Amino acid sequence: TSNDLQEILTFTTALARQAGDLILRGSEAILASGDVDEKKNSVDLVTEYDVKVEELVKGELNKKYPGFQFIGEESYAAGSRPPLTDLPTFCVDPIDGTTNFVHGFPHVAVSIGLIYNKRPVLGVIYNPFLDQLFTGAKDLGSYLTLRGQTPHRLPLTRPRPLPSLSQALIGIECGSDRSASIMHVKAEAYRKLAGNPAEGVEGGRMAHSLRALGTAALEFCMVAQGGLDIYWEIGCWPWDVCAGSIIAQEAGGMVAGSPSSPLDNDVNEAVLTGRKYIVIRPIGDSPTEKGVDAQKR
Ligand code: IPD
Repeated sequence: TSNDLQEILTFTTALARQAGDLILRGSEAILASGDVDEKKNSVDLVTEYDVKVEELVKGELNKKYPGFQFIGEESYAAGSRPPLTDLPTFCVDPIDGTTNFVHGFPHVAVSIGLIYNKRPVLGVIYNPFLDQLFTGAKDLGSYLTLRGQTPHRLPLTRPRPLPSLSQALIGIECGSDRSASIMHVKAEAYRKLAGNPAEGVEGGRMAHSLRALGTAALEFCMVAQGGLDIYWEIGCWPWDVCAGSIIAQEAGGMVAGSPSSPLDNDVNEAVLTGRKYIVIRPIGDSPTEKGVDAQKR
């Protein structure tokens, strides 16, 4: 119920702030020591703080909600891979933006999501470096609390319909899968989105620009806030998208997990368990020119 979600939101918000304190302490230690490991390749980074923060969050969630399941980035890496069921399941990225974390680039967040009946229903994303707290829960709206001030309902300003992709500011990510096929698709998409059609870029849109924050979770939040029109990526994991999806949806954003269902506002099992395309459509509008035309009519 909404009351249950509100109670879980209160608990997970306090927990995210506690995790944020640990991330800040960790940042000083890691920047001083440079103690960083690699997971699947030299750009898929992990530190002892990813593990420590996940242990803290997982431990506190287990104590408070013993019947809930848990999926976490570091537990998954360590071999704990429970199947997604209809049970309430926390889905956690202890440090989203680990590369930023080890470089001292201050867009780093702990992301705590809750899935119920295979749908994200609650999300808390906290960036301790900028003291940005994003929260959202099903039917309760989403909010930004900046530096402990009064929470602002998202989006921050009433979004105007986007007349064309050419006016969009679009979030993208390099990701950690640098295989040739993925990089080719990404590079082609960037070329078409940002390239000048007048100079022969086939299908070119010349969007206002492209941005990369270095964290999927905060990209979702930036769309929810209204600072980005779209975030598009290939290769996300469930913990990258779970909390962000509900925060964006509650702000009026659209989330789609695969190119075959671009109008689907669901984040279903395919998104939560697969590594599909993630598109957040501009708030109140469609990212396709077809959708833009339909709206003009
Ligand atoms: C990664 C970041 C990155 C995105 C990757 C994620 P991590 O998460 O969100 O921006 O491009 O797809 O896996 O490894 O920093 O938790």
